[in-house]
Amino acid sequence: METEIPILKGRSVVVGVSGGIAAYKAADLTSRLVKAGAQVDVVMTPAAAEFVRPLTFQALTHRPVALEMFALWQETEIGHVSLGKRADLMIIAPATANTLAKLAHGMADTLLATTALACRGPILLAPAMESGMWANPATADNMKVLERRGYFSVGPESGRLASGADGLGRMSEPETILDAARWVLGRRGPLAGEKVVVTAGGTREAIDPVRFVGNHSSGKMGFALAAAARDRGAEVTLVHGPSAQRAPYGLRAVAVESAEQMQAAVWEAAGDAAAIIMAAAVADYRPKSAAEHKIKKTRGELALELVRTPDILAAVAQRRRQSGAPRAVIGFAAETDNVLENAREKLARKGLDLIVANDVLAADSGFAVDTNRVTLIDGGGVVEALPLMSKTAVAEAVIDRLAALLRRV
Ligand code: C5P
Repeated sequence: METEIPILKGRSVVVGVSGGIAAYKAADLTSRLVKAGAQVDVVMTPAAAEFVRPLTFQALTHRPVALEMFALWQETEIGHVSLGKRADLMIIAPATANTLAKLAHGMADTLLATTALACRGPILLAPAMESGMWANPATADNMKVLERRGYFSVGPESGRLASGADGLGRMSEPETILDAARWVLGRRGPLAGEKVVVTAGGTREAIDPVRFVGNHSSGKMGFALAAAARDRGAEVTLVHGPSAQRAPYGLRAVAVESAEQMQAAVWEAAGDAAAIIMAAAVADYRPKSAAEHKIKKTRGELALELVRTPDILAAVAQRRRQSGAPRAVIGFAAETDNVLENAREKLARKGLDLIVANDVLAADSGFAVDTNRVTLIDGGGVVEALPLMSKTAVAEAVIDRLAALLRRV
């Protein structure tokens, strides 16, 4: 299944690796960038090459690794400033205290620093150092200077450091850095300035303090939609039920449990939103009342009385009919039979602009798997059946449709 990420595909990304133990994680980051479709050039400081051999990066990128400033063949092949000049994005990971100091002062005594100085695209820093060095006013001031000059940064995070102590200074995980890179590249995209609310995951309706009525939704589809909208510059609020998915960088995540909590969170976020995409599997019924204490097992049977939960999507669409906002409303229809017929009926009944229908009984589609086979039906009744795709690719297709919808209204 494809793992290419449109916002990174074909883009020139320079990964600058400076000398810290987190340099080994830069190999993972590089691999992820290559898989996403970026053209990656790696520049290492001599200290970084003490931690990880340049060959590792060369093997991952299939391109020469730039290390020395005036290496003869590199001068002719890439030159000591051309890498920076042609980069759409430079990511410095790890960015050590020493590298940050050099960048803050415009020094150019390593190829990495020279590349950064010559870089015309945005630069994303992933600082990593011992916590005392990070807390040092010199480093803090350098970071302030760099941020003021428009550098972007991700992390550092708290955790175990090379010294063995716990503290603030760990480089963010490659997955998070990749996400931050997507945010940086997409920030002026077609959805820039638009607020988009996405819901994801299933809700849990309490039976008692330890039990709930739930469903198999993993949240994968909704989280992918939120990331795809973020990649096009949208200001995203992701309202999600309990999920093992990591909240993507660069958006506001609101965690909820029940349908009622989800409704309240959506209602609040949707007030000034341009669009809402309801990908959450919201429970249609909840126990009439949640027992205050754990229900004891007895010999007899136990009947649960269930009552309806609010239909969030229908309420949002209803509000739109009155106020005109949000401008676009997209729903999902997870079906087990008569997929198209049921989806069409929901589109009309709930007053949607687009519905994404899928058959959740198919093994390669629906809950928990990474792939989905969906059909898009729009307000005009036009049906588009997409082939089997990764949920990431489905998300991209849906967000492209959203951008087109917003352009129209
Ligand atoms: O009618 P059904 O629940 O199948 O409709 C699915 C769509 O409605 C999804 O987009 C889902 O997120 C949304 N929904 C909702 N509130 C509910 C139930 C479903 O917003 N209580």
